[in-house]
Amino acid sequence: MQTALTRLLGCRYPIIAGPMFLVSDENLVGAVARAGATAAMPSLNWRQPEQFREAVRAVRQSAGGLPFGVNIIVNKANPRVERDLEICAEEKVPFVITSLGNPKDVIRKMHAVGSKVFCDVTNLEYALKVQELGADAVIAVSAGAGGHAGPVSPLVLIPYLKRHLRIPVIAAGGIATGEQIAAALILGADGVQLGTRFIASQEAKVSADYKNAIVKARPEDIVLTLKISGTPAAVIRTPYIDRVGLDLNIVEKFLLRNSWTKKTMKLVRSLLGARALEKAAAQTTWKEVWSAGQSSGLIEEILPAAEIVERLVKECETALARAKSFD
Ligand SMILES: Cc1cc2nc3c(=O)[nH]c(=O)nc-3n(C[C@H](O)[C@H](O)[C@H](O)COP(=O)(O)O)c2cc1C
Repeated sequence: MQTALTRLLGCRYPIIAGPMFLVSDENLVGAVARAGATAAMPSLNWRQPEQFREAVRAVRQSAGGLPFGVNIIVNKANPRVERDLEICAEEKVPFVITSLGNPKDVIRKMHAVGSKVFCDVTNLEYALKVQELGADAVIAVSAGAGGHAGPVSPLVLIPYLKRHLRIPVIAAGGIATGEQIAAALILGADGVQLGTRFIASQEAKVSADYKNAIVKARPEDIVLTLKISGTPAAVIRTPYIDRVGLDLNIVEKFLLRNSWTKKTMKLVRSLLGARALEKAAAQTTWKEVWSAGQSSGLIEEILPAAEIVERLVKECETALARAKSFD
């Protein structure tokens, strides 16, 4: 399973456990890295930059020299961009994943210490921009993904980006099995990033209710809500989600359209959304706001992260061997 991604990072399998707000911590990232895949964690999962630095050091130790990454949200609403980037560079984090905003500074600073930078993209226009800025790979976030899903089907997005880019393309969105990894590789992907599958892992630091909700959910139970950040985000449909609705109210919409109030409105919405997610992820509450993608429908068990990686690899190899026997 050697691909451009395994060669870039020096990991055994071209699989990333994607960074997940409130979910990924040093235990999950360390366990996935030791299993031969790789994983990333959002710097914002720690309230203070110095706590984040400690987590990076803990992962470095538990991963025993194997690669791991950090996600930095590079838009203006994140007041910690510069500090967290400084820490990533000082600690020589092997790779950084950027989401939203302009990754220019991240690329410059991380390349200066010999690290790689991958950028989340949902379309070709933005992918070409980050390629021009020097990104080492793009993460192609497609329809059906957990978090902020893109609008385009992975069956189209992967070959479309491959056709127009020089840098590697990592497929993200909807993948929870090894057969799907094989399909992404056949479509031309250089690796895959999985989020939702790793929420239902023993290591993920969220409540049993949240993990069980993923095991129970069907693909059609995943809905897109504007209530979390003002941008469509995938959540499991629960009675609470039904009650509050998926759309913003008239006042919020007006404030989001107005150029004077747009930034503050986004910030307030994101803070309120993050608080709701945080409560629901940590404890039993009737306000069930659980972020997950359509691949929930394929997840039937909560497993140790290493076993998830092992199964993914085995299923992928079997599917690739079967595909070869077709000709
Ligand atoms: C609960 C949750 C939180 C996420 N948080 C982040 C994040 O903070 N930063 C980021 O770049 N991606 C985030 N993502 C996206 C994942 O890293 C990954 O790209 C995505 O989950 C892949 O789709 P899948 O869930 O269908 O596997 C999140 C996804 C989920 C499900």
